Amino acid sequence: MKLLHLDSSIQGETSASRAVSAAIVARLRATHEGLDTRYRDLAADPLPHLTLPGYATGEAAAVLDEFLEADIVVIGAPMYNFGMPSQLKAWFDHILVAGKTFRYGANGPEGLAGAKKVIVALSRGGVYSQGPAAPMEHAEAHLRTMLGFIGVSDVEFVVAEGVALGAEQRETAIEAAFAHAGRIAPVAAAA
Ligand SMILES: Cc1cc2nc3c(=O)[nH]c(=O)nc-3n(C[C@H](O)[C@H](O)[C@H](O)COP(=O)(O)O)c2cc1C
Repeated sequence: MKLLHLDSSIQGETSASRAVSAAIVARLRATHEGLDTRYRDLAADPLPHLTLPGYATGEAAAVLDEFLEADIVVIGAPMYNFGMPSQLKAWFDHILVAGKTFRYGANGPEGLAGAKKVIVALSRGGVYSQGPAAPMEHAEAHLRTMLGFIGVSDVEFVVAEGVALGAEQRETAIEAAFAHAGRIAPVAAAA
């Protein structure tokens, strides 16, 4: 089985989403023998913004192939300015390609990348799962929309939120995310 591991936080060693995505990958390695793992750091090596000549060609085509080949994709996704980092959005811009990951048929859009599991390590400074800030959550919502559009329905979010609300809350949130990572069920190989 092939695993693609992405990180997109600019916060290096102190990043919550990087710590959680690493814990998820460690769990998957422990539960899947011989897992072939690829890593891409979208903050250290950002992908170019979309251009018409560069659309679905060159590096973008390689990025798309890497995604299509993966059985499991683990994405480290911090919330920046209420959504995902632009580096991660740029990756999705190279992944949502008509004819490759979706197509328009008689019944409207149809996702073509369904046979995958995607696990997102999402970290948020504030609390958005409930309360007054919930309508301002555009990271998880946007990720779910894009993944759903390309047919990926097996999506699991491992969330650490409230990490900017004090040291104790940060630690509790990250520990809860580590515990969640440790419970992730093995992924069945695609037929
Ligand atoms: C540039 C930047 C923008 C941020 N914007 C938000 C925000 O809109 N809402 C929020 O709750 N937290 C925000 N935060 C806090 C991050 O979500 C929090 O630090 C989280 O841990 C980021 O993940 P990371 O540690 O993996 O980088 C922001 C942090 C940075 C560095």
